[in-house]
Amino acid sequence: MTRVPTPAGSVDHPGPGPGRARVHREVVSYVRRSARMRPNQRRAWERHHEEFVLEVPQRETSTSIDAAARLDLPAAFGREAPLVVEVGPGTGESLVPMARARPEVNLLAFEVYAPAVAQLVGALARAELTNVRVVAANAVEGLQHLVPAAGLDELWTFFPDPWPKARHHKRRLVGPDTAALVAARLRPGGVWRLATDWEDYAVQMRQVLDGTPALVSEHPGGWAPRWADRPLTRFEQRGLDAGRAVHDLTYRRTSA
Ligand SMILES: C[S@@+](CC[C@H](N)C(=O)[O-])C[C@H]1O[C@@H](n2cnc3c(N)ncnc32)[C@H](O)[C@@H]1O
Repeated sequence: MTRVPTPAGSVDHPGPGPGRARVHREVVSYVRRSARMRPNQRRAWERHHEEFVLEVPQRETSTSIDAAARLDLPAAFGREAPLVVEVGPGTGESLVPMARARPEVNLLAFEVYAPAVAQLVGALARAELTNVRVVAANAVEGLQHLVPAAGLDELWTFFPDPWPKARHHKRRLVGPDTAALVAARLRPGGVWRLATDWEDYAVQMRQVLDGTPALVSEHPGGWAPRWADRPLTRFEQRGLDAGRAVHDLTYRRTSA
């Protein structure tokens, strides 16, 4: 049975009480929002989740992944192919065209926001794509438990939540721990592509990735040119409209 996103109104973090486990609040890179779906999202979920969404055992919260969870990726995709992971595709505005443009890769997406996952599976079905699978859970735990070491050809992290306030910087997805994890999951020669419209986050990404053993910049000391295959999304447009510059970064896993 595929796990259903947390139903509207249910609580991800039950408080202490009879029969209820106390849940440790972890620092995560996303806002825990209501999973309430609009009727069209609910319909898309019901019609298409079995085609695209991979069930994984969770811990206490609906976006977590049990440390013992494993995925048989060739079985999940129905074939062996180079693996690309996208972290946080939202509704798939860029994922869907990029998956269509790369039919030769298996594309695994991690997205925590259930209504976005529902829209994404609807869009994947309309586009008749067969090379995408979605895990509706925290990408960091997904990379830890579901992606084998040196098993990843590319990782895409486009417009991660910026957490602009200094007291929230610890919630930013791209930090030393995630960077070390990504380096361990990329195969030698594998590529991590990132983009953000928040200047200080771009600088932080560059500092962190420059300091990560086994990752080297394709454009040392500078920014990557905008990746031509990356479609413009609402998030990027919103940044441009607000006068923010968009920075792309491309790092490669060394053979060391
Ligand atoms: C600002 S949106 C960008 C969406 C898309 N990449 C784009 O460029 O249009 C960031 C997305 O990342 C998701 N997200 C944040 N942290 C995540 C995590 N650790 N695992 C999975 N998804 C995450 C959020 O739910 C949100 O949909």
